[in-house]
Amino acid sequence: MEVALYHPDFGYYAGTQNPVGREGDFITSPELSPAFSFALSRLVNDFVRRSGDGLCTIVDIGCGDGSLIRSLANASSDSRARFVGVDRALDRVPLDAKRNVAFVATIDEVPRGGAHLMLSNELFDALPFARLVQRGKHLHELWVTDRDGHLDWSEHETSGELEGYFASRGITLTDGQFADVSPEWGALYGDICRLVDRGLVVTFDYGYPQDKLFHSRARRFGTAAAYSRHRVGRDLLANPGQQDLTAHINFDDLRRVGEGRGFSTLFFERQARFLLGLGITEHEFLKPSTDLEIADLAEGIGLLEKRDAARQLVLPDAIGHDIRVLVQGKGFGEGRWSFQRPLF
Ligand SMILES: C[S@@+](CC[C@H](N)C(=O)[O-])C[C@H]1O[C@@H](n2cnc3c(N)ncnc32)[C@H](O)[C@@H]1O
Repeated sequence: MEVALYHPDFGYYAGTQNPVGREGDFITSPELSPAFSFALSRLVNDFVRRSGDGLCTIVDIGCGDGSLIRSLANASSDSRARFVGVDRALDRVPLDAKRNVAFVATIDEVPRGGAHLMLSNELFDALPFARLVQRGKHLHELWVTDRDGHLDWSEHETSGELEGYFASRGITLTDGQFADVSPEWGALYGDICRLVDRGLVVTFDYGYPQDKLFHSRARRFGTAAAYSRHRVGRDLLANPGQQDLTAHINFDDLRRVGEGRGFSTLFFERQARFLLGLGITEHEFLKPSTDLEIADLAEGIGLLEKRDAARQLVLPDAIGHDIRVLVQGKGFGEGRWSFQRPLF
């Protein structure tokens, strides 16, 4: 899976082609509508204001082509804030993006000191994962093998880290149940937290708490999926390096690691709730339609499409419902943040 996703020549994320967007294979919130970065720039402003006189570093980890962190940098006029994009595959970042944002390939290169706002959107669900299945008393890992020139699965009893993953969390899978797991979820989150003396870690991703993620009926076949041209497929071995491979994450892994490093959990709910708390409805694409002035039909249709895209960020049957947001913080006292305010 590591090779299929990240091999420098053949990996899905290697090269200059951006897989995210309408022309790509799947769409993410920042690509869907500028209303997303509008809402996040409010969080950035609030963060910088609360940080006092010191320097603030705003970081997007797994930034892809860097469009979100660029929008946040462009929307900020505060000299106390510096903006950094991190991605292990940086070839998709256009040259002109590097004017007011620094781009680096690893978290270790993010400048230290001051307060950090560490953002990520669909980073953890893009990490290579192991595919497991319970057979009687034994947990098996699915390996990939070559059968007459075709990739195929083969099952092997697991031991060590992956078996320990379930045992240490008190999770038992039922006979025949599949599960998709990455020990990297917690490890990478730990690396992010380690960098922050004072700040927030804000994680947007597809995932559940562990009792839902490993539910014996609802998730009997795990969550692994392949994406190509906006279609979801279950054949993970088809077209290696040409389709995205992803699995839902265990948010409890992240939460526990953060709490173990002295962070408090400030928010864990659906994306819609988070963005509404930040005031996303004040974006022009979400204003009541009675306030709109439309010159002609073409403009009207274009605007309808933009409004429809923005609504998907917050409506109950779209991305705003499926993605969850975990916010953990350290060193900012007890004062409530706008995303924590009750909506009704
Ligand atoms: C699904 S894409 C999301 C891109 C972007 N955040 C968005 O929302 O459109 C996941 C990104 O995470 C990057 N990535 C994966 N593992 C990483 C790591 N350990 N450190 C930094 N970036 C990573 C990938 O190269 C890819 O660009």
